[in-house]
Amino acid sequence: MHNKFYVTTPIYYVNDTPHIGHAYTTVAADILARFNRLRGISVFFLTGTDEHGQKVQKAAEEKGLTPGEHADTMVKNFENLWKKLDISNDAFIRTTDEEHRSVVREMLEKLKQKGRIVKRAYKGWYCTPDERFWTEKELLDGNCPECGRPVEEIEEENYFFLMSEYRERLIRHIEDNPGYILPETRRNEVMGFLRSRDLGDLCISRPKKRLSWGIPLPFDEDYVTYVWFDALLNYYSATRYLAPPLGTEPWWPADHHIVGKDILTTHAVYWSTMLMALDMPLPGNIFAHGWWTVKGRKMSKSVGNVVDPNEMIEKYGADAFRYFLFREVPFGLDGDFSEDALIGRINSDLANDLGNILSRTLTMIEKYREGIIPEAIDGKDREGMEKRIRAWFDAESTTGMSNIFGGFLEKLEFHHALALLWKVMGEINEYIQRAAPWKEKDEGTLSNTLYTIAEALGILAVYLFPFMPATAEKMWGQLGIDGRIGERKELPKWGDLQVSGRRVRKGEHLFPRIEKRKEEKKEAVPDKKAKEEKREDTGLISINDFAGVELKVGKILEAERVKGSNKLIKLQVDTGEQRQIVAGIGKVYSPEQLVGKKVVVVANLKPAKLMGIESRGMLLAANDGEKLVLVTPEGDVGVGAGVR
Ligand code: MSP
Repeated sequence: MHNKFYVTTPIYYVNDTPHIGHAYTTVAADILARFNRLRGISVFFLTGTDEHGQKVQKAAEEKGLTPGEHADTMVKNFENLWKKLDISNDAFIRTTDEEHRSVVREMLEKLKQKGRIVKRAYKGWYCTPDERFWTEKELLDGNCPECGRPVEEIEEENYFFLMSEYRERLIRHIEDNPGYILPETRRNEVMGFLRSRDLGDLCISRPKKRLSWGIPLPFDEDYVTYVWFDALLNYYSATRYLAPPLGTEPWWPADHHIVGKDILTTHAVYWSTMLMALDMPLPGNIFAHGWWTVKGRKMSKSVGNVVDPNEMIEKYGADAFRYFLFREVPFGLDGDFSEDALIGRINSDLANDLGNILSRTLTMIEKYREGIIPEAIDGKDREGMEKRIRAWFDAESTTGMSNIFGGFLEKLEFHHALALLWKVMGEINEYIQRAAPWKEKDEGTLSNTLYTIAEALGILAVYLFPFMPATAEKMWGQLGIDGRIGERKELPKWGDLQVSGRRVRKGEHLFPRIEKRKEEKKEAVPDKKAKEEKREDTGLISINDFAGVELKVGKILEAERVKGSNKLIKLQVDTGEQRQIVAGIGKVYSPEQLVGKKVVVVANLKPAKLMGIESRGMLLAANDGEKLVLVTPEGDVGVGAGVR
């Protein structure tokens, strides 16, 4: 394990206001930063803004401001949002910082001296909004292949970075380092891209007469550097003037660059080859996450379906929003955002599971021990009960929570990490049920039980902290534990928290249930187009109505018959998170036949109770009146994959 950890987000364009996509990447980096600090590792967590370029210049002109003034006001939107979202970044870089600009010039000079930058006449198709040149072949119906907007043909002299020379070396690096680009599907895409075509050289400049808002090339003041060359170098330049002190070890290279899938090529190919040319080490990993859609559609201002994170935080709180983003969808896949689903998660996972287990525990400690957490009592452990709970918290054990959790976070499998915490929470709940303190006659056994639950919840809070910092601190406060989780430099082992003798302070419920009002339901996510389409009552549904149904591939982990019914089977299904589904397929399938099967699940169905058992979702099955068969994916596809 390293004793330093450097994680970055992309630097965001200042011409836009922050939306859920920006929040997503930044919270992901925050989770990793917080977890590593908790392990006692020196962390540098960097985010910031990308401020040069044509888009910013244009947006500023439209507002009658200088690009600098425009950037200054827009940056505040990001800084304010990060505060509200409890983002613990160590630094905020702006590409307009003088220090950054001078590092970029230094690097340009170095590459020029090494003969890695040359001047050439260049003709190509330029997409102004994306600030990228495309070749004729790359265009899609004559438009920009990335955003679909019109392009213009431009011919001019420019400076090029000789990127093509690094193709083989980059292929080898990716082959030799399977974790370099993740998830694997994205790695394969990059490999496919590199193998299938020649890598061109990268145009890194723009004539100043066309674009003045940039960093002038040190060797030719008539040009400024192209946005990506400037932007990517932020990851390195920040280590030179913004990073906290770290003895003699340098902060570079980064452990993780977290980016959205749309900017993977620029990172995996441009940035990697730039570093190679500069003789600098490559980062440990570039992770490309998926995109959030709304009712299956890309978010866009013109459709009016952009999710404003500020609004979500105001309505539901930062922690619920953070939790939802990382529990709902496996990191790496695309996901669909809906307020309904967010409320569903708050009510089931946060109010029902997390909030209730804490309030129940505190009530018992108040009732049976006058609010003081009792001591563990020797000799009062029962076979298969306390030991089983403690086994989860055994830091040495490979099957203990801390090791499994750490493993998940190292691979950025956030949803698995959360599912694990909820599994442990479920076990603690089961333990409470079995130990039944309300029936216990033996005082020693009762004390031992209450102690075990309190200690377990105290440690669980520490693991929740990276995801939900304020909630985790609140849990400690209510359990009466001294100090703050955020100041810890070591993950606690069983007994470390010394909970015995503490006075609990039962406060308000961590997550009160949210009752949805009828009008709110209809207006949950405004989508102008969807509303118009609904008006034509043809009996047909619109693509938006269909997109409202969230279908996911799931794997059946466990199956058992529901007692007293020959039709119902209770299933545990992994759809990227574990969920319980009760299905009426017991006459056709036996539980043994079902385990291991991949199925298609309606994932955003309101929870319902069948014979008193909660069911969250539904399996798709085909039924021709005689036969009923489950719908299964035709090929091998990962759990949690969306079905459209
Ligand atoms: N300035 C460049 C990055 C330079 S990094 C050296 C940039 N900025 S951006 O503001 O347009 O985008 C930042 C990030 O937001 C990208 O990682 C992008 O994938 C992410 N998202 C934008 N919309 C998104 C969703 N709808 N969902 C998830 N993330 C998305 O690109």
